[in-house]
Amino acid sequence: MACVLNLFVLSLTLLATLSVGSRQFDVLDKKINAVHDIMEVKIEMIKEDLAMVVKNLNMSAVGEIQGTNGNVSTIQIANTMVENMKNSIQAAEDFYKVIHRGFISEKMALRKSISRIEQSMTNLQHKLENVNGDLTSKFQLLNAEINKNKDDIEKRVEKAKQYAILKSNEDCKISNIKFNGELSLLQSNFMKIVNDVKKDLADIRVISINQLTFTRHTYDNSIYFELNSTMNFSEGSRRCRQYGAHLPEVTTSGENSFLRNTFVGSRRGIRIFLGATDQLIEGHWIWEYTGQEVRYQDWNTGEPNNENGGEDCLEISYWNVRWNDARCTTNMTIVCEFNI
Ligand SMILES: *[C@@H]1O[C@H](CO)[C@@H](O)[C@H](O)[C@H]1NC(C)=O
Ligand SMILES: *[C@@H]1O[C@H](CO)[C@@H](O)[C@H](O)[C@H]1NC(C)=O
Ligand SMILES: *[C@@H]1O[C@H](CO)[C@@H](O)[C@H](O)[C@H]1NC(C)=O
Ligand SMILES: *[C@@H]1O[C@H](CO)[C@@H](O)[C@H](O)[C@H]1NC(C)=O
Ligand SMILES: *[C@@H]1O[C@H](CO)[C@@H](O)[C@H](O)[C@H]1NC(C)=O
Repeated sequence: MACVLNLFVLSLTLLATLSVGSRQFDVLDKKINAVHDIMEVKIEMIKEDLAMVVKNLNMSAVGEIQGTNGNVSTIQIANTMVENMKNSIQAAEDFYKVIHRGFISEKMALRKSISRIEQSMTNLQHKLENVNGDLTSKFQLLNAEINKNKDDIEKRVEKAKQYAILKSNEDCKISNIKFNGELSLLQSNFMKIVNDVKKDLADIRVISINQLTFTRHTYDNSIYFELNSTMNFSEGSRRCRQYGAHLPEVTTSGENSFLRNTFVGSRRGIRIFLGATDQLIEGHWIWEYTGQEVRYQDWNTGEPNNENGGEDCLEISYWNVRWNDARCTTNMTIVCEFNI
């Protein structure tokens, strides 16, 4: 950019010099014209003088012929005058020649200086071209160097990155090993504590269930008892959990018969919830406490029918003492099952 600007400024300077040169030519032309005018005046004067001489000569010649006014000295004077004329013509010619030569040398000098200017302009242009070329090659060098360095820097960054990845991987491995060791130690400690607590809890549960005022019935490793008031499904389930128990989950016909006989039987109006629902997926019955699918079944004929699209909880009801799907919001007798 700077290069181009310099070239522009130099060109302007050269143009200015050339215009000075052409102005000098104008001055010279004016001088030549002025000298030309002077020469013309002089030649006019000489012509007049010449006419006078001729006139005088003619006069004296006429006088001699007439023999009246014959005057030798008149001819001599005329001759002298002619001689003088010749001299002044010569002088004028010499003057003109000198001036002309002067003009010519001045013109030549001017030509020379112009050609010098032109020469120096050419030289400058060459220099500029050289400078341009120089700068271009320098730029190219610089660019190459930058590119070289860029590659170098990129390589270094890449190396550093790889090193960092390697290093952090190693660090990760080490800290992972350490972490895993600590974690498994923590886990085994935690499991020990959990097991201790579980044991304690189991003891406490059994002790506390034995404190309950409810009538307890035992069947196959479970204790069953009936709460004092009726409740809906979720409330009943919640109350059972408060005793460390859950709604009954029936997996065998033996258990089913035990429940039917003990809690429903011929008691009129009695309905008890079992701990299964199909609330998540209609028709897909799941035991709430264990999360197991309901396999053993004792559905009454035509059940489950999801009557009015709202029967998602399992009951044994007094009217046929078999399974039915019922509304979860219905208040029923709550029987809890406690695993020993
Ligand atoms: C010379 O003088 C005569 C008489 O005055 C005249 O007729 C003649 O034209 C003159 N010649 C010249 C060349 O002047
Ligand atoms: C001869 O010419 C001279 C000069 O012009 C003049 O003085 C002189 O009187 C003339 N002589 C005659 C005789 O005309
Ligand atoms: C249940 O009712 C019986 C008899 O009324 C009573 O003795 C017992 O304390 C009650 N139990 C609870 C937990 O309310
Ligand atoms: C169940 O009963 C409890 C206590 O009366 C009540 O807060 C809850 O809304 C009932 N839930 C359903 C689904 O009926
Ligand atoms: C169900 O029982 C609760 C108290 O446990 C009572 O507030 C509610 O009104 C009862 N609902 C029905 C439909 O009887």
